[in-house]
Amino acid sequence: MVSFMKILQKEILVDANGVRIIKFTIHAPSIAQKAQVGQFVVLMVSEVGERIPLTIVERDPTKGTIILIVQEIGFSTKLLGKLNPGDSLYALVGPLGHATEMKNFGNVIVVGGGVGVAVMYPVAKAFQDAGNTVTAIIGAKSKDLLILKNEVEAVSSTTHITTDDGTVGRKGFVTEVLKDLLSTAHYNVVYAVGPIPMMKFVSRITHEYGVKTIVSLNSLMIDGTGMCGGCRVSINATSKFTCVDGPEFDGHAVDWDMFEKRTNIYKSKESHICKLDTL
Ligand code: FES
Repeated sequence: MVSFMKILQKEILVDANGVRIIKFTIHAPSIAQKAQVGQFVVLMVSEVGERIPLTIVERDPTKGTIILIVQEIGFSTKLLGKLNPGDSLYALVGPLGHATEMKNFGNVIVVGGGVGVAVMYPVAKAFQDAGNTVTAIIGAKSKDLLILKNEVEAVSSTTHITTDDGTVGRKGFVTEVLKDLLSTAHYNVVYAVGPIPMMKFVSRITHEYGVKTIVSLNSLMIDGTGMCGGCRVSINATSKFTCVDGPEFDGHAVDWDMFEKRTNIYKSKESHICKLDTL
Protein backbone atom coordinates (compact mmCIF):
# COMPACT_ATOMS: atom_id res chain seq x y z
CA MET A 1 0.00 0.00 0.00
CA VAL A 2 1.31 3.45 -0.84
CA SER A 3 1.66 5.42 2.36
CA PHE A 4 3.00 8.63 0.84
CA MET A 5 0.84 11.60 1.82
CA LYS A 6 -1.05 9.47 4.28
CA ILE A 7 -2.36 11.05 7.46
CA LEU A 8 -0.76 9.25 10.41
CA GLN A 9 -2.16 11.26 13.33
CA LYS A 10 -4.86 13.81 13.89
CA GLU A 11 -5.29 15.94 17.00
CA ILE A 12 -8.00 18.51 17.57
CA LEU A 13 -6.22 21.44 19.20
CA VAL A 14 -9.26 23.69 19.42
CA ASP A 15 -12.96 22.97 19.13
CA ALA A 16 -14.72 25.87 20.82
CA ASN A 17 -16.89 28.85 19.95
CA GLY A 18 -17.28 27.60 16.38
CA VAL A 19 -13.50 27.45 15.85
CA ARG A 20 -11.79 24.18 14.96
CA ILE A 21 -8.00 23.97 14.70
CA ILE A 22 -6.51 20.59 13.84
CA LYS A 23 -2.98 19.21 13.89
CA PHE A 24 -2.10 16.57 11.30
CA THR A 25 0.99 14.39 11.16
CA ILE A 26 1.52 13.41 7.53
CA HIS A 27 3.85 10.90 5.95
CA ALA A 28 5.81 12.93 3.40
CA PRO A 29 9.46 11.74 3.44
CA SER A 30 10.95 13.90 0.71
CA ILE A 31 9.39 17.08 2.12
CA ALA A 32 10.54 16.12 5.63
CA GLN A 33 14.09 15.77 4.27
CA LYS A 34 14.27 19.13 2.53
CA ALA A 35 12.01 21.55 4.40
CA GLN A 36 13.46 24.56 6.19
CA VAL A 37 11.88 26.88 8.72
CA GLY A 38 9.38 29.28 7.16
CA GLN A 39 8.57 27.12 4.16
CA PHE A 40 5.14 25.76 3.33
CA VAL A 41 3.32 23.07 1.38
CA VAL A 42 0.28 23.27 -0.87
CA LEU A 43 -2.17 20.41 -0.53
CA MET A 44 -5.34 19.26 -2.19
CA VAL A 45 -7.89 17.12 -0.39
CA SER A 46 -9.68 16.03 -3.56
CA GLU A 47 -9.21 16.33 -7.31
CA VAL A 48 -11.69 19.20 -7.53
CA GLY A 49 -10.72 20.90 -4.27
CA GLU A 50 -8.87 24.14 -3.78
CA ARG A 51 -5.16 24.16 -3.11
CA ILE A 52 -4.49 24.95 0.52
CA PRO A 53 -1.15 26.52 1.51
CA LEU A 54 0.01 25.51 5.00
CA THR A 55 3.25 26.23 6.84
CA ILE A 56 5.35 23.22 7.82
CA VAL A 57 5.20 23.44 11.61
CA GLU A 58 7.59 20.58 12.31
CA ARG A 59 9.39 17.88 10.39
CA ASP A 60 11.02 14.62 11.30
CA PRO A 61 13.38 13.46 8.53
CA THR A 62 13.99 10.15 10.32
CA LYS A 63 10.32 9.22 10.45
CA GLY A 64 9.60 10.98 7.16
CA THR A 65 6.79 13.04 8.67
CA ILE A 66 5.69 16.65 8.70
CA ILE A 67 3.23 18.41 10.98
CA LEU A 68 0.63 20.80 9.60
CA ILE A 69 -1.88 22.82 11.61
CA VAL A 70 -5.05 24.03 9.94
CA GLN A 71 -8.00 26.11 11.03
CA GLU A 72 -11.28 25.18 9.37
CA ILE A 73 -12.37 28.35 7.61
CA GLY A 74 -13.81 27.57 4.19
CA PHE A 75 -15.05 24.63 2.16
CA SER A 76 -11.69 22.96 1.52
CA THR A 77 -10.27 23.32 5.02
CA LYS A 78 -13.51 21.84 6.39
CA LEU A 79 -13.11 18.95 3.96
CA LEU A 80 -9.54 18.50 5.20
CA GLY A 81 -10.82 18.54 8.78
CA LYS A 82 -13.00 15.53 8.01
CA LEU A 83 -10.01 13.36 7.08
CA ASN A 84 -8.72 10.86 9.62
CA PRO A 85 -5.59 8.78 10.23
CA GLY A 86 -5.29 6.27 7.41
CA ASP A 87 -6.76 8.66 4.83
CA SER A 88 -4.50 10.06 2.12
CA LEU A 89 -4.35 13.53 0.64
CA TYR A 90 -5.04 13.86 -3.07
CA ALA A 91 -1.89 15.96 -3.61
CA LEU A 92 0.86 17.52 -1.56
CA VAL A 93 3.61 19.74 -2.97
CA GLY A 94 6.54 21.28 -1.15
CA PRO A 95 8.60 22.60 0.39
CA LEU A 96 7.68 25.93 -1.22
CA GLY A 97 8.73 29.52 -0.62
CA HIS A 98 11.88 30.92 0.91
CA ALA A 99 13.17 29.82 4.29
CA THR A 100 13.27 32.35 7.12
CA GLU A 101 16.51 34.35 7.29
CA MET A 102 18.08 32.71 10.30
CA LYS A 103 21.07 34.00 12.28
CA ASN A 104 21.90 35.45 15.66
CA PHE A 105 20.25 38.86 15.46
CA GLY A 106 20.39 39.33 19.24
CA ASN A 107 17.13 40.24 20.96
CA VAL A 108 14.16 39.02 19.00
CA ILE A 109 10.42 39.35 19.56
CA VAL A 110 8.10 36.83 17.90
CA VAL A 111 4.40 37.70 17.73
CA GLY A 112 1.70 35.19 16.85
CA GLY A 113 -2.05 35.70 16.72
CA GLY A 114 -4.71 32.99 16.45
CA VAL A 115 -3.66 30.09 14.22
CA GLY A 116 -0.63 32.21 13.25
CA VAL A 117 1.03 30.85 16.41
CA ALA A 118 1.50 27.61 14.41
CA VAL A 119 3.66 29.53 11.95
CA MET A 120 5.43 31.52 14.65
CA TYR A 121 6.39 28.55 16.82
CA PRO A 122 8.97 26.90 14.48
CA VAL A 123 10.49 30.31 13.77
CA ALA A 124 10.80 31.04 17.51
CA LYS A 125 12.46 27.66 17.98
CA ALA A 126 14.92 28.31 15.14
CA PHE A 127 15.72 31.80 16.48
CA GLN A 128 16.50 30.27 19.85
CA ASP A 129 18.65 27.54 18.26
CA ALA A 130 20.57 30.28 16.41
CA GLY A 131 21.48 31.90 19.74
CA ASN A 132 18.90 34.71 19.88
CA THR A 133 17.15 35.76 23.07
CA VAL A 134 13.53 35.14 22.15
CA THR A 135 10.60 37.00 23.68
CA ALA A 136 7.26 35.63 22.54
CA ILE A 137 3.87 37.32 22.46
CA ILE A 138 0.95 35.06 21.64
CA GLY A 139 -2.65 36.16 21.40
CA ALA A 140 -6.10 34.70 20.91
CA LYS A 141 -9.69 35.78 21.35
CA SER A 142 -10.01 33.65 24.49
CA LYS A 143 -8.28 30.92 26.49
CA ASP A 144 -10.05 28.11 24.61
CA LEU A 145 -8.66 29.33 21.29
CA LEU A 146 -5.02 29.63 22.33
CA ILE A 147 -2.73 27.05 20.70
CA LEU A 148 0.83 25.79 21.31
CA LYS A 149 1.26 27.73 24.59
CA ASN A 150 3.57 25.11 26.16
CA GLU A 151 5.56 24.67 22.97
CA VAL A 152 6.15 28.42 22.60
CA GLU A 153 7.10 28.75 26.27
CA ALA A 154 9.67 25.99 25.79
CA VAL A 155 11.50 27.89 23.04
CA SER A 156 11.40 31.44 24.41
CA SER A 157 13.00 33.21 27.37
CA THR A 158 9.77 35.04 28.15
CA THR A 159 6.27 34.43 26.86
CA HIS A 160 3.51 37.04 27.10
CA ILE A 161 -0.07 35.94 26.54
CA THR A 162 -2.98 38.16 25.62
CA THR A 163 -6.65 37.36 25.11
CA ASP A 164 -9.38 39.69 23.89
CA ASP A 165 -11.63 38.68 26.80
CA GLY A 166 -8.93 38.37 29.49
CA THR A 167 -9.64 34.68 30.18
CA VAL A 168 -5.89 34.06 30.25
CA GLY A 169 -2.93 36.43 30.28
CA ARG A 170 -3.37 40.13 29.76
CA LYS A 171 -6.71 41.37 28.49
CA GLY A 172 -6.14 43.14 25.20
CA PHE A 173 -4.08 42.81 22.06
CA VAL A 174 -0.56 41.59 21.33
CA THR A 175 0.28 45.05 20.03
CA GLU A 176 -0.13 46.57 23.51
CA VAL A 177 2.49 44.18 24.93
CA LEU A 178 4.73 44.85 21.95
CA LYS A 179 4.58 48.59 22.56
CA ASP A 180 5.48 48.12 26.23
CA LEU A 181 8.46 45.92 25.34
CA LEU A 182 9.80 48.24 22.65
CA SER A 183 9.54 51.25 24.92
CA THR A 184 11.58 49.63 27.69
CA ALA A 185 14.35 47.70 25.92
CA HIS A 186 16.19 47.41 22.62
CA TYR A 187 15.20 44.65 20.22
CA ASN A 188 16.88 43.83 16.93
CA VAL A 189 14.10 42.03 15.08
CA VAL A 190 10.35 41.53 15.37
CA TYR A 191 8.70 38.61 13.57
CA ALA A 192 4.90 38.65 13.28
CA VAL A 193 2.29 36.33 11.85
CA GLY A 194 -1.47 36.23 12.33
CA PRO A 195 -4.55 38.19 11.30
CA ILE A 196 -3.82 40.95 8.80
CA PRO A 197 -4.83 43.87 11.07
CA MET A 198 -2.49 42.51 13.74
CA MET A 199 0.50 42.28 11.36
CA LYS A 200 -0.34 45.71 9.97
CA PHE A 201 -0.37 47.35 13.42
CA VAL A 202 2.73 45.45 14.57
CA SER A 203 4.53 46.83 11.51
CA ARG A 204 3.26 50.35 12.22
CA ILE A 205 4.52 50.20 15.82
CA THR A 206 7.92 48.73 14.95
CA HIS A 207 8.32 51.35 12.22
CA GLU A 208 8.02 54.03 14.93
CA TYR A 209 10.81 52.32 16.87
CA GLY A 210 12.93 51.59 13.79
CA VAL A 211 13.02 47.82 14.39
CA LYS A 212 13.45 45.41 11.46
CA THR A 213 10.18 43.53 11.04
CA ILE A 214 9.46 40.31 9.20
CA VAL A 215 5.88 39.24 8.49
CA SER A 216 4.65 35.95 7.05
CA LEU A 217 1.77 36.60 4.63
CA ASN A 218 -1.10 34.16 4.29
CA SER A 219 -2.12 35.13 0.76
CA LEU A 220 -4.73 33.25 -1.22
CA MET A 221 -2.94 30.88 -3.57
CA ILE A 222 -4.01 29.01 -6.67
CA ASP A 223 -1.09 27.25 -8.35
CA GLY A 224 1.58 28.02 -5.73
CA THR A 225 4.28 28.24 -8.41
CA GLY A 226 4.33 31.88 -9.44
CA MET A 227 2.26 31.31 -12.59
CA CYS A 228 -1.25 32.51 -11.76
CA GLY A 229 -0.73 35.80 -9.94
CA GLY A 230 -3.32 34.90 -7.31
CA CYS A 231 -1.01 35.59 -4.38
CA ARG A 232 0.24 38.95 -5.68
CA VAL A 233 1.22 41.49 -3.03
CA SER A 234 2.71 44.93 -3.29
CA ILE A 235 6.08 45.34 -1.57
CA ASN A 236 7.66 48.78 -1.80
CA ALA A 237 5.20 49.45 -4.65
CA THR A 238 6.57 46.47 -6.61
CA SER A 239 4.49 43.36 -7.36
CA LYS A 240 5.70 40.20 -5.68
CA PHE A 241 4.21 36.74 -5.45
CA THR A 242 3.89 35.33 -1.95
CA CYS A 243 4.36 31.73 -3.14
CA VAL A 244 7.76 32.23 -4.78
CA ASP A 245 9.05 35.56 -3.41
CA GLY A 246 7.68 35.03 0.13
CA PRO A 247 5.94 34.05 2.25
CA GLU A 248 7.97 36.42 4.43
CA PHE A 249 8.42 40.09 3.63
CA ASP A 250 9.59 43.31 5.26
CA GLY A 251 6.52 44.38 7.24
CA HIS A 252 7.36 48.04 6.65
CA ALA A 253 7.24 47.58 2.87
CA VAL A 254 3.90 45.76 2.55
CA ASP A 255 0.91 47.61 1.06
CA TRP A 256 -1.44 46.40 3.81
CA ASP A 257 -4.62 47.95 2.42
CA MET A 258 -4.18 46.20 -0.92
CA PHE A 259 -3.28 42.93 0.78
CA GLU A 260 -6.40 43.11 2.94
CA LYS A 261 -8.64 43.84 -0.06
CA ARG A 262 -7.23 40.99 -2.13
CA THR A 263 -7.50 38.54 0.78
CA ASN A 264 -11.17 39.39 1.35
CA ILE A 265 -12.13 39.25 -2.31
CA TYR A 266 -13.65 35.73 -2.22
CA LYS A 267 -15.15 35.89 1.28
CA SER A 268 -18.79 36.19 0.20
CA LYS A 269 -18.42 33.34 -2.33
CA GLU A 270 -16.69 31.18 0.28
CA SER A 271 -19.47 31.65 2.84
CA HIS A 272 -22.04 30.88 0.12
CA ILE A 273 -20.27 27.63 -0.80
CA CYS A 274 -19.96 26.66 2.86
CA LYS A 275 -23.70 27.00 3.32
CA LEU A 276 -24.33 24.48 0.55
CA ASP A 277 -25.08 21.03 1.87
CA THR A 278 -22.23 19.40 0.05
CA LEU A 279 -19.90 18.55 2.89
S1 FES B 1 -0.27 31.15 -6.11
FE1 FES B 1 -0.16 31.60 -8.20
S2 FES B 1 1.42 33.08 -8.36
FE2 FES B 1 1.41 32.48 -6.27
